[in-house]
Amino acid sequence: MKKLFTVLLAIAVVFVMTACGGGNASAPDAGSAGPAAPGSRMVTVGLIQLTEHPSLDEIRTAITARLTEKARENGLEIEVNYQNGQGDTSTINTICQQFVASKVDVIVAIATPAAQGAATAAENSGIPVVFSAVTDPVAAGLVESIEAPGGNITGTSDAIPVEKIFALAQELTPDVKSYGLIYNTSEDNSLSVIAQVKTYLDGKGIPYTEGAVTTSADVQASARNLLEKCDAVFAPIDNTVASAMAVLADEAIKAKKPVYVAADSMVADGGLATVGVNYTNLGTQTADMVLKVLTGTPAGEIPVEILRDNAVVINGITAAAIGVDVSKYGPSGDDIISAVN
Ligand code: TRP
Repeated sequence: MKKLFTVLLAIAVVFVMTACGGGNASAPDAGSAGPAAPGSRMVTVGLIQLTEHPSLDEIRTAITARLTEKARENGLEIEVNYQNGQGDTSTINTICQQFVASKVDVIVAIATPAAQGAATAAENSGIPVVFSAVTDPVAAGLVESIEAPGGNITGTSDAIPVEKIFALAQELTPDVKSYGLIYNTSEDNSLSVIAQVKTYLDGKGIPYTEGAVTTSADVQASARNLLEKCDAVFAPIDNTVASAMAVLADEAIKAKKPVYVAADSMVADGGLATVGVNYTNLGTQTADMVLKVLTGTPAGEIPVEILRDNAVVINGITAAAIGVDVSKYGPSGDDIISAVN
């Protein structure tokens, strides 16, 4: 009996140790999975994310995972101080000013409005900024050029293949004769894409109606209005719309009309289709740039990296619900269909 008890106890101890080990391995602080390697340098990353929506969460997870994976071999012990801006400009500014005041070694900013706040706060402080998923860093006023950013800033960009998205729309839903464009006019990332969309649609003689939103709470009313007037809706890479994507998708399914979007996460949330980049890859690439900066390369000398590998992403359930044939890409009714473009 005593022996059995000892065996059970041993199993329990092993279980607890394994559980703790697992906890450590997935700790959010990069490089904290054990004692510092002798000679490694302790650095702090101030990580700011604009708001919470699935794509930005995916990017952040990829960044911290890569920093954790690569810290040791870069001779670093990395502590990540993560803060969420809650989609609010003054919250973002306060967080970034605190990062500067506490002299973090680098600020990493996810999405355009967060990057703009970080760049302003870090100006003349000597603290480098690495941005992630900024659709148009030049239009957003962050860098002088893609090849030579200048200043103390660089990062990754998710340029949107507007023509490919509309070519896919034309192929899947050839009867669509007008589009509603839903976006937040204060997001420079959206303005840049919408300008390209208007040029494209004007060139084809396709009419469109614009539906501006200021907060995610405006998405439902704007969606209903556009769906009443237009055959389809297009949402650019807009953080405000992405935060309420499920609401927009619901309205469109009720109206039996397609919504084309600019990110895979917006398809996962019920949009019909997009052609876009992989945001885990984008996060990993961002982290590699952060490591370069932390090991001595001036940020302004590292060219901005634009992701260009696109995939077609289709929501098969939405397609079935609104009666769009996507069989060329995969079995209809399937959750998410992804095909290399
Ligand atoms: N590219 C956006 C920006 O510049 C951020 C972003 C990344 C995004 N993934 C997204 C926005 C998905 C909407 C949906 O701010």
